[in-house]
Amino acid sequence: MCGIVGYTGHEEACGIIIDGLKRLEYRGYDSAGVALQQQGRLVVRKKKGKIEDLEKFIGSERLTGTTGIGHTRWATHGAPSDVNAHPHTSSDGRIAVVHNGIVENYVELRQKLADEEKIEFRTETDTEVIAQMIGVNYRKNGGNLEDAVYDAVQEMRGAYAIGVIAADTPDRIVAYRKDAPLIAGLGGDCKFIASDIPALLKYVNDIYLIENDEMVVCTPDSVRIYDENRRPVRREVMKVNWSIEDAEKGGYEHFMLKEIHEQPKAVQDTLLRRIDDNGRICLDGISLTKEDLQNITKIYIVACGTAYHAGLIGKYAIEKMARIPVEIDVASEFRYRDPVIDDKTLFIAISQSGETLDTLAALREARSHGARILSVCNVVGSSVARESDDVFYTWAGPEIAVASTKAYTTQLVCMYLIALYLGDLTGNISREYYDHILEELMAMPDKIRQTLEKAPEIEELARHLYNRTQVFFIGRGVDSAVALEGSLKLKEISYINSFAIAAGELKHGTIALMEPETIVIALATQDRLFEKMYSNIVEVKARMAHVVSIAKEGSDKIEAESTEVIYIPQCDDEVTPILTVIPLQLFAYYVAKIKGEDIDKPRNLAKSVTVE
Ligand code: M6R
Repeated sequence: MCGIVGYTGHEEACGIIIDGLKRLEYRGYDSAGVALQQQGRLVVRKKKGKIEDLEKFIGSERLTGTTGIGHTRWATHGAPSDVNAHPHTSSDGRIAVVHNGIVENYVELRQKLADEEKIEFRTETDTEVIAQMIGVNYRKNGGNLEDAVYDAVQEMRGAYAIGVIAADTPDRIVAYRKDAPLIAGLGGDCKFIASDIPALLKYVNDIYLIENDEMVVCTPDSVRIYDENRRPVRREVMKVNWSIEDAEKGGYEHFMLKEIHEQPKAVQDTLLRRIDDNGRICLDGISLTKEDLQNITKIYIVACGTAYHAGLIGKYAIEKMARIPVEIDVASEFRYRDPVIDDKTLFIAISQSGETLDTLAALREARSHGARILSVCNVVGSSVARESDDVFYTWAGPEIAVASTKAYTTQLVCMYLIALYLGDLTGNISREYYDHILEELMAMPDKIRQTLEKAPEIEELARHLYNRTQVFFIGRGVDSAVALEGSLKLKEISYINSFAIAAGELKHGTIALMEPETIVIALATQDRLFEKMYSNIVEVKARMAHVVSIAKEGSDKIEAESTEVIYIPQCDDEVTPILTVIPLQLFAYYVAKIKGEDIDKPRNLAKSVTVE
């Protein structure tokens, strides 16, 4: 979704802002722009396309100015175009605005401005309405930018974060947050605003998290925060412990490949944060007591996309280990039905970014019914994290590629730890089983490394299969949930039509689609379901499908019925998803690479979906 960066200090702002925008590219965008204050006027440059297109457009023009705002736009209102790109300005060119989110009542506000102020709009965007409103207020109030912004947001409905500068209010950025991410960065003699931490890592590690309905006023020497009633707010500085290297490619061709290879460390970091010296899971910093947990009769897991797929595995694990009923739903569905939820429900929201609007809305819905909220989240201080009673952080580090990889495997680790903890608490699992699964988890970083060594083999497979138009993923038990994730990975970056189905369902319809050379990726890692899965493979093979099986080492029998087999190391059935997904991630990556697709920024997709 859109990205915002603003800088005010003593250096030339343009390069700093563009550098910050590049680090927000992962959010997805279709145009980019900057606005700079230059001795009593505003200079705006914006362009459809990539940030490089904006840079080319600026060319050798020296855009001076030590205060400015920049934006990457992901079109919602109005097609991607130069004119619809941000920043947008008021008709008199005195105000420039960047905006992430949606102004729901922009049509009526636009009409009002046209009728009462005779404003002629130049774009189809909701953002121009904001710029025009602030422009009118600013002119009428004699040039007080803070009042002009504050008065404008009183009229706006929706979810948004905005950054505003004025031609004749030097060295000042005013920003406002309502349900869209916004942070302020604290440099010695410079200050920033941004949508996300990676934009600022090169310059600052101290940030303020801006809350909903707060206005921020940045000058080179200060950041002031005000609540919705314009009362000053005191905010703790948050120290960010990610480094700039974490947010760079580090020699890899793509962020996705780097993040796939970071999984051993990410999984290890996530585990080590939660296992104490006695080999027990510790919930330090989590306020859920044993009594709270014993009061829980039902668990709801809600998430979107890949995070939802991690939730599916969580359901298997919690129901098996703790024998507590678990319901799972995608957030966009959950929020609009009438879920049966009360104060005996534990609601688990899973989100890498912590800013996914549907997940956040579902969380609020659950809270309004009295549920206790636990989130599994990667971004410290994100909206989901802040609105939860407790947070179980994944320690994946920044995930930049749109296709989620290390977030998924670390989310799985969290779900296993939660399941084991609950299982122990409810007395449903023995100490031996608890220790055994923990040992299995602790062995995962090494086993992921061993699986990653299969990369050349998987690249070769991708080279043979990259031009197929249809791929099926099948599996049983937890493998059917991993199949969904493998299929999503492939389709989102390679644009191949892929489809995942529980293998036992094939005969109920989908097997009709099997033709000679249809690719079937068969996940057969579950010992207890192996024979059943084997029969499914035989069935599709009989229809001449090209079967690529993923199986545990030692399952040699499968070779007779498979065109290729990729083996993962031996491990307990329960925790196989952490390994099974690795070849699927690599397969999707190499197919997309061979096809020449834009792997880190697939078409039409955004890293964090902050609108409905
Ligand atoms: O940030 P979140 O985990 O809430 O994001 C949820 C989905 O948008 C995300 O997992 C998406 O499906 C991935 N890009 C898929 O790779």
